[in-house]
Amino acid sequence: MYEALTPVSEMLSRNLDMLSHQPLLVCGLLEDDLPGLLAEQGPAPRVFTTDFRYFQWLNARKGVKAEFGALPANEPAAGLLLLMPKAKAEAQYLLAACLPLLAPGAPVFIAGDNKGGVKAAPKLLAPWCDQINKVDSARRASLYQAELSRPAPAFAASDWVGRYPLAEENLTVCTLPGVFSADHLDAGTRLLLDNAGALHGRVLDFGCGAGVIGASLLTRNPGIELEQIDINALALEASRLTLTENGLQARVYPSDGLSEVQGRFDCIISNPPFHAGLKTFYSTTETLLREAKGYLRPGGSLLLVANAFLPYPELIEQSFGHCETLAANGRFKIYRAQT
Ligand SMILES: C[S@@+](CC[C@H](N)C(=O)[O-])C[C@H]1O[C@@H](n2cnc3c(N)ncnc32)[C@H](O)[C@@H]1O
Repeated sequence: MYEALTPVSEMLSRNLDMLSHQPLLVCGLLEDDLPGLLAEQGPAPRVFTTDFRYFQWLNARKGVKAEFGALPANEPAAGLLLLMPKAKAEAQYLLAACLPLLAPGAPVFIAGDNKGGVKAAPKLLAPWCDQINKVDSARRASLYQAELSRPAPAFAASDWVGRYPLAEENLTVCTLPGVFSADHLDAGTRLLLDNAGALHGRVLDFGCGAGVIGASLLTRNPGIELEQIDINALALEASRLTLTENGLQARVYPSDGLSEVQGRFDCIISNPPFHAGLKTFYSTTETLLREAKGYLRPGGSLLLVANAFLPYPELIEQSFGHCETLAANGRFKIYRAQT
């Protein structure tokens, strides 16, 4: 799935001498076997990823140490390579989380697609590095190199938590950088919540993001047994924070689609992902629509919000034999199918 090198890694592959002097802590937008390439050339890198699918893929490989979570393990690192993530706030978060693991003098590299914000590297590193050089540029990608000039302050998790109120439900939603709809409730999610009705039994919040759907359902239906899954560690952490902040309880765990989900549910509810990653070969939502029926109890329902133009009703019909449109506005539709 991640076998072919991205243009960023192709550019990095001609800089392996410089990158292999020390075992690097590698994090950010990892979409290929760059860690394997580094391991072939020099000391094996240590990879920290917030993407559960990538973590599982890398874990199955030999020779690279992979960590999944919202933070890297608190162990010293000899140097850092950040692959520029899509959101600048996430880059700032990853630097704040990783740089305290480095000693002054350690090398810091930032690489990325020129259109993906890598040009911000000098500004991002300026608080900690006095000299930042652009050392290569090819394939529409750039590599910046610096040296940590002074110790970075210890990571303070609370500095990174954003909050917004959900007035109708009297809830506070906690978010973290890069998490979907990090500073407001998505309009599609609002339409879904307004049409979810009363729920009972075991409920799965698929692709929970900051946990807003689950938290809202728990407040309205205190008897439900809620599970929240997401592929992204920062989303899972935000969901846990949202639960704690509002005195709610649920089981929150990583899953790539339904891969880690066990048993059957009375309801699977989702505002599912629709931006396929650059290197995603199948669509998570299409797989969900095909597989959901097998995870529902008799009489159980799949409840979904989607952009009105997406061809989901046909896929739901293929799987369930029917698809009900519960609500629609100019942009979104709410679909329901029952077993
Ligand atoms: C459109 S957002 C919805 C977030 C939240 N439920 C809301 O309504 O604000 C979709 C979520 O699906 C997650 N996601 C993407 N691919 C996934 C996968 N393969 N398995 C599980 N979750 C995934 C994303 O990380 C994101 O948090």
